[in-house]
Amino acid sequence: MIWNFGSINIDHVYRLQNLPKPGETLSAQSYMKFLGGKGLNQSVAIAQSGGDVRHVGAVGPDGSWAINQMEAFGVSVSDVASIEVPTGNAVIYVDAAAENQIVILGGANQALAETQINAAIDEATQDDIVLFQNEINNGSLIGKKAKEKGLKLAYSAAPFDKEAVLPLLPQLDILAVNETEAADLAKATGKNVEALGLPMLLVTKGSLGSELFLGNEKIEQMSFSVEPKDTTGAGDTFLGAFLAYFDKGESPKEALRFAAAASALQVTKEGAAQAIPNETETLEFLKAQNG
Ligand code: RIB
Repeated sequence: MIWNFGSINIDHVYRLQNLPKPGETLSAQSYMKFLGGKGLNQSVAIAQSGGDVRHVGAVGPDGSWAINQMEAFGVSVSDVASIEVPTGNAVIYVDAAAENQIVILGGANQALAETQINAAIDEATQDDIVLFQNEINNGSLIGKKAKEKGLKLAYSAAPFDKEAVLPLLPQLDILAVNETEAADLAKATGKNVEALGLPMLLVTKGSLGSELFLGNEKIEQMSFSVEPKDTTGAGDTFLGAFLAYFDKGESPKEALRFAAAASALQVTKEGAAQAIPNETETLEFLKAQNG
């Protein structure tokens, strides 16, 4: 079981030819409202990949839309609180090359109560994985409680925050970063991320593939070639799919390959959570790659 303490956002997505420069006003080609949030995207990717996930988070009075959709994707939502703070949201610009710019407003994601966190960790059992990202409050408490209980701790250092990640490093069993976050972390620690001595380190590099470091062992996975439409949530999909397979007992190499396929498929559709493929779709894609 994976306990994901994570953000839930309403994504307001504007498609444009080019991303705006400072001071520039641009007309969008389209506007869509999607389900998102790094935490939610990861939970949906876990569930869609056949994993067991309980999402611990919070939404506001406007959040039943998000909860209903999460449930429909197979995410357990009994630990999602409905509170009097508006649901988190994101404004996302996507350009013709499928690149994006994202601005988030934390809202309810920044109001996870200590009691809610404690209750969830109390229910977790040995071998469960606790996962969180940087779009919620109380991250250090989650890390502390999870380790006190002897649970595996996984952390996605996104959005990157030096103050948040540095104290967590000694506690982490699994750290996931993209290339930019890896460079930021190297700058903050004065060491290459591979030299940090983490039990498991996942580095995703977009179209350049991914690397998994397990102590001294390094496993590499190339990206699958696809025509991208929207890369929002690709890293979240990768991590969620990887953890689902890893938690199910698949080998790290197989989990990495599955995750690369899931995220390749995810970028071919618009939106974050809604674009995440299910396990059958990902396995069929992988089969087709083998010829
Ligand atoms: O990682 C993509 C996500 O980042 C979006 O869904 C948006 O909500 C922001 O949290």
